Amino acid sequence: MDLTSQRREYETEGIDVGDLDPDPIVQVDRWLDDAYASGTAEPTAAVFATADIHGRPSARTVLLKGLGSDGFVIFTNYDSRKGREVIANPWAALTLTWVELSRQVRVEGIVEMVDAADSDAYFASRPRGAQLGAWASAQSHPIADRAQLEAQLDEVHERYAGLEVPRPPHWGGLRLVPHEIEVWQGRLDRLHDRLVYVPADGEPELDPTTRARIERWEIIRRSP
Ligand SMILES: Cc1cc2nc3c(=O)[nH]c(=O)nc-3n(C[C@H](O)[C@H](O)[C@H](O)COP(=O)(O)O)c2cc1C
Repeated sequence: MDLTSQRREYETEGIDVGDLDPDPIVQVDRWLDDAYASGTAEPTAAVFATADIHGRPSARTVLLKGLGSDGFVIFTNYDSRKGREVIANPWAALTLTWVELSRQVRVEGIVEMVDAADSDAYFASRPRGAQLGAWASAQSHPIADRAQLEAQLDEVHERYAGLEVPRPPHWGGLRLVPHEIEVWQGRLDRLHDRLVYVPADGEPELDPTTRARIERWEIIRRSP
Protein backbone atom coordinates (compact mmCIF):
# COMPACT_ATOMS: atom_id res chain seq x y z
CA MET A 1 0.00 0.00 0.00
CA ASP A 2 1.24 3.48 -0.81
CA LEU A 3 1.09 5.10 2.62
CA THR A 4 2.08 8.56 1.37
CA SER A 5 -1.32 8.92 -0.35
CA GLN A 6 -3.23 7.98 2.83
CA ARG A 7 -4.38 11.22 4.41
CA ARG A 8 -7.12 12.32 6.77
CA GLU A 9 -7.79 15.90 7.80
CA TYR A 10 -8.54 16.60 11.47
CA GLU A 11 -11.49 18.94 11.41
CA THR A 12 -12.22 19.03 15.12
CA GLU A 13 -12.68 22.21 17.09
CA GLY A 14 -9.59 23.52 18.75
CA ILE A 15 -8.80 24.00 22.42
CA ASP A 16 -7.42 26.96 24.33
CA VAL A 17 -6.07 27.33 27.85
CA GLY A 18 -9.43 28.62 29.09
CA ASP A 19 -11.19 25.43 27.93
CA LEU A 20 -9.02 23.23 30.12
CA ASP A 21 -9.43 22.36 33.77
CA PRO A 22 -6.53 23.76 35.82
CA ASP A 23 -6.04 20.24 37.19
CA PRO A 24 -4.61 17.98 34.45
CA ILE A 25 -6.02 14.83 36.05
CA VAL A 26 -9.55 16.27 35.95
CA GLN A 27 -8.95 17.22 32.31
CA VAL A 28 -7.73 13.74 31.30
CA ASP A 29 -10.64 12.18 33.18
CA ARG A 30 -13.02 14.37 31.16
CA TRP A 31 -11.40 13.30 27.90
CA LEU A 32 -11.64 9.65 28.98
CA ASP A 33 -15.39 10.17 29.49
CA ASP A 34 -15.57 11.62 25.96
CA ALA A 35 -13.63 8.62 24.63
CA TYR A 36 -16.09 6.19 26.26
CA ALA A 37 -19.00 8.21 24.87
CA SER A 38 -17.45 8.11 21.37
CA GLY A 39 -17.63 4.29 21.37
CA THR A 40 -13.90 3.81 20.80
CA ALA A 41 -12.91 0.16 21.38
CA GLU A 42 -10.38 0.42 24.26
CA PRO A 43 -10.46 3.99 25.64
CA THR A 44 -7.89 3.11 28.31
CA ALA A 45 -5.34 1.53 25.95
CA ALA A 46 -2.12 3.48 26.35
CA VAL A 47 1.43 3.14 25.09
CA PHE A 48 3.81 2.89 28.04
CA ALA A 49 7.42 3.71 27.25
CA THR A 50 10.39 2.94 29.46
CA ALA A 51 14.14 2.96 28.97
CA ASP A 52 16.97 0.92 30.39
CA ILE A 53 19.93 2.47 32.20
CA HIS A 54 21.74 2.96 28.87
CA GLY A 55 18.79 4.97 27.53
CA ARG A 56 17.59 2.25 25.15
CA PRO A 57 13.82 2.72 24.96
CA SER A 58 11.01 0.20 24.69
CA ALA A 59 7.27 0.78 24.37
CA ARG A 60 4.17 -1.38 24.60
CA THR A 61 0.43 -1.04 24.94
CA VAL A 62 -1.11 -1.45 28.40
CA LEU A 63 -4.49 -0.69 29.91
CA LEU A 64 -4.83 2.27 32.24
CA LYS A 65 -6.49 1.02 35.41
CA GLY A 66 -6.38 4.05 37.65
CA LEU A 67 -6.28 7.81 37.35
CA GLY A 68 -6.11 10.05 40.39
CA SER A 69 -4.30 12.94 42.02
CA ASP A 70 -1.35 10.57 42.58
CA GLY A 71 -0.97 9.63 38.94
CA PHE A 72 -1.67 7.02 36.28
CA VAL A 73 -1.85 3.36 37.35
CA ILE A 74 -1.23 0.26 35.25
CA PHE A 75 -0.84 -3.39 36.27
CA THR A 76 1.82 -5.73 35.07
CA ASN A 77 4.48 -8.30 35.88
CA TYR A 78 7.34 -6.66 37.82
CA ASP A 79 9.80 -9.15 36.26
CA SER A 80 8.80 -8.15 32.73
CA ARG A 81 11.05 -5.98 30.63
CA LYS A 82 9.10 -2.84 31.56
CA GLY A 83 9.07 -3.85 35.23
CA ARG A 84 12.81 -4.33 35.32
CA GLU A 85 13.42 -1.13 33.39
CA VAL A 86 11.42 1.10 35.73
CA ILE A 87 13.24 -0.33 38.74
CA ALA A 88 16.58 0.61 37.14
CA ASN A 89 15.36 3.89 35.62
CA PRO A 90 12.07 5.25 36.98
CA TRP A 91 11.52 7.83 34.21
CA ALA A 92 8.73 6.72 31.88
CA ALA A 93 6.08 8.03 29.51
CA LEU A 94 2.50 7.07 28.74
CA THR A 95 0.48 8.08 25.68
CA LEU A 96 -3.27 7.73 25.23
CA THR A 97 -4.61 8.21 21.69
CA TRP A 98 -8.25 8.47 20.69
CA VAL A 99 -8.11 8.70 16.90
CA GLU A 100 -11.90 9.03 16.57
CA LEU A 101 -11.67 12.27 18.55
CA SER A 102 -8.34 13.41 17.07
CA ARG A 103 -6.99 13.60 20.60
CA GLN A 104 -3.84 12.52 22.34
CA VAL A 105 -2.59 12.79 25.92
CA ARG A 106 1.12 12.44 26.65
CA VAL A 107 2.39 11.97 30.17
CA GLU A 108 5.99 11.97 31.38
CA GLY A 109 7.04 11.29 34.90
CA ILE A 110 8.48 8.99 37.50
CA VAL A 111 7.23 5.49 38.23
CA GLU A 112 6.61 4.13 41.70
CA MET A 113 5.16 0.84 42.92
CA VAL A 114 1.51 0.72 43.90
CA ASP A 115 0.97 -0.33 47.54
CA ALA A 116 0.68 -4.10 47.99
CA ALA A 117 -2.81 -3.74 49.47
CA ASP A 118 -4.07 -1.86 46.39
CA SER A 119 -2.48 -4.39 44.05
CA ASP A 120 -4.09 -7.20 46.09
CA ALA A 121 -7.49 -5.53 45.79
CA TYR A 122 -7.23 -5.14 42.03
CA PHE A 123 -5.86 -8.66 41.55
CA ALA A 124 -8.79 -10.06 43.53
CA SER A 125 -11.21 -8.30 41.16
CA ARG A 126 -9.74 -9.96 38.03
CA PRO A 127 -11.37 -13.00 36.45
CA ARG A 128 -9.93 -16.29 37.75
CA GLY A 129 -8.44 -17.11 34.32
CA ALA A 130 -6.42 -13.89 34.34
CA GLN A 131 -5.33 -14.56 37.94
CA LEU A 132 -4.01 -18.00 36.99
CA GLY A 133 -2.39 -16.57 33.88
CA ALA A 134 -0.41 -14.12 36.02
CA TRP A 135 1.14 -17.11 37.84
CA ALA A 136 1.64 -19.17 34.68
CA SER A 137 3.44 -16.60 32.55
CA ALA A 138 6.95 -15.33 33.27
CA GLN A 139 6.20 -12.28 31.13
CA SER A 140 8.94 -11.21 28.68
CA HIS A 141 11.11 -14.28 29.32
CA PRO A 142 11.83 -16.73 26.47
CA ILE A 143 9.83 -19.97 26.43
CA ALA A 144 10.39 -23.07 24.30
CA ASP A 145 6.91 -23.14 22.80
CA ARG A 146 3.21 -22.61 23.54
CA ALA A 147 3.05 -26.10 25.08
CA GLN A 148 5.40 -24.96 27.85
CA LEU A 149 3.05 -22.09 28.74
CA GLU A 150 0.06 -24.42 28.75
CA ALA A 151 1.91 -26.92 30.96
CA GLN A 152 2.67 -24.10 33.42
CA LEU A 153 -1.00 -23.09 33.34
CA ASP A 154 -2.07 -26.71 34.06
CA GLU A 155 0.32 -26.74 36.99
CA VAL A 156 -1.15 -23.58 38.56
CA HIS A 157 -4.71 -24.81 37.88
CA GLU A 158 -3.87 -27.87 39.96
CA ARG A 159 -2.05 -25.89 42.64
CA TYR A 160 -5.04 -23.60 43.25
CA ALA A 161 -7.86 -26.09 42.61
CA GLY A 162 -10.70 -25.15 44.98
CA LEU A 163 -8.64 -22.28 46.44
CA GLU A 164 -8.59 -18.52 46.01
CA VAL A 165 -5.71 -17.42 43.80
CA PRO A 166 -3.37 -15.09 45.71
CA ARG A 167 -1.58 -12.24 43.95
CA PRO A 168 1.86 -13.35 42.76
CA PRO A 169 4.59 -11.29 44.45
CA HIS A 170 5.96 -10.44 41.00
CA TRP A 171 2.69 -8.93 39.79
CA GLY A 172 1.11 -5.59 40.71
CA GLY A 173 0.60 -1.95 39.94
CA LEU A 174 2.93 0.74 38.69
CA ARG A 175 2.01 4.39 39.13
CA LEU A 176 3.34 7.04 36.78
CA VAL A 177 3.57 10.25 38.81
CA PRO A 178 3.33 13.01 36.21
CA HIS A 179 5.89 15.77 35.77
CA GLU A 180 4.37 16.93 32.47
CA ILE A 181 1.06 16.27 30.73
CA GLU A 182 0.31 17.37 27.18
CA VAL A 183 -3.20 17.41 25.73
CA TRP A 184 -3.33 17.48 21.94
CA GLN A 185 -6.29 18.22 19.72
CA GLY A 186 -5.94 17.63 15.98
CA ARG A 187 -6.84 20.57 13.71
CA LEU A 188 -6.94 21.46 10.04
CA ASP A 189 -3.73 21.65 7.99
CA ARG A 190 -1.77 19.91 10.75
CA LEU A 191 -1.85 23.10 12.83
CA HIS A 192 -2.91 21.19 15.89
CA ASP A 193 -3.36 22.49 19.42
CA ARG A 194 -0.80 21.33 21.98
CA LEU A 195 -1.35 22.53 25.51
CA VAL A 196 1.07 21.36 28.14
CA TYR A 197 0.72 21.24 31.92
CA VAL A 198 4.15 21.94 33.39
CA PRO A 199 5.17 22.41 37.03
CA ALA A 200 4.28 26.03 37.99
CA ASP A 201 7.12 26.16 40.50
CA GLY A 202 9.70 24.68 38.15
CA GLU A 203 10.82 21.09 37.82
CA PRO A 204 11.49 19.63 41.27
CA GLU A 205 14.96 18.44 42.17
CA LEU A 206 15.78 15.90 39.46
CA ASP A 207 16.70 13.23 41.96
CA PRO A 208 14.45 10.40 40.81
CA THR A 209 14.37 8.97 44.31
CA THR A 210 12.46 11.97 45.68
CA ARG A 211 9.25 10.94 43.88
CA ALA A 212 8.08 14.54 44.24
CA ARG A 213 4.45 15.30 43.40
CA ILE A 214 3.79 18.41 41.36
CA GLU A 215 1.39 20.49 43.45
CA ARG A 216 0.79 23.42 41.09
CA TRP A 217 0.58 23.40 37.31
CA GLU A 218 0.70 26.07 34.66
CA ILE A 219 -0.43 25.53 31.09
CA ILE A 220 1.79 26.52 28.19
CA ARG A 221 1.19 26.20 24.46
CA ARG A 222 3.66 24.45 22.20
CA SER A 223 3.95 24.75 18.45
CA PRO A 224 2.49 21.76 16.65
C1 LIG B 1 -4.73 -3.66 24.06
C2 LIG B 1 -3.59 -4.22 24.89
C3 LIG B 1 -3.63 -4.13 26.27
C4 LIG B 1 -2.59 -4.63 27.05
N1 LIG B 1 -2.64 -4.45 28.40
C5 LIG B 1 -1.60 -4.85 29.16
C6 LIG B 1 -1.56 -4.55 30.55
O1 LIG B 1 -2.46 -3.89 31.11
N2 LIG B 1 -0.50 -4.99 31.27
C7 LIG B 1 0.54 -5.69 30.69
O2 LIG B 1 1.47 -6.06 31.40
N3 LIG B 1 0.54 -5.96 29.37
C8 LIG B 1 -0.49 -5.56 28.59
N4 LIG B 1 -0.48 -5.81 27.23
C9 LIG B 1 0.67 -6.56 26.66
C10 LIG B 1 1.87 -5.61 26.47
O3 LIG B 1 1.68 -4.81 25.31
C11 LIG B 1 3.20 -6.34 26.38
O4 LIG B 1 3.17 -7.32 25.37
C12 LIG B 1 3.60 -7.02 27.69
O5 LIG B 1 3.26 -6.22 28.81
C13 LIG B 1 5.08 -7.32 27.74
O6 LIG B 1 5.82 -6.13 27.59
P1 LIG B 1 7.37 -6.02 28.02
O7 LIG B 1 8.02 -7.34 27.65
O8 LIG B 1 7.92 -4.88 27.22
O9 LIG B 1 7.42 -5.78 29.50
C14 LIG B 1 -1.51 -5.31 26.42
C15 LIG B 1 -1.45 -5.38 25.02
C16 LIG B 1 -2.48 -4.84 24.28
C17 LIG B 1 -2.37 -4.91 22.77
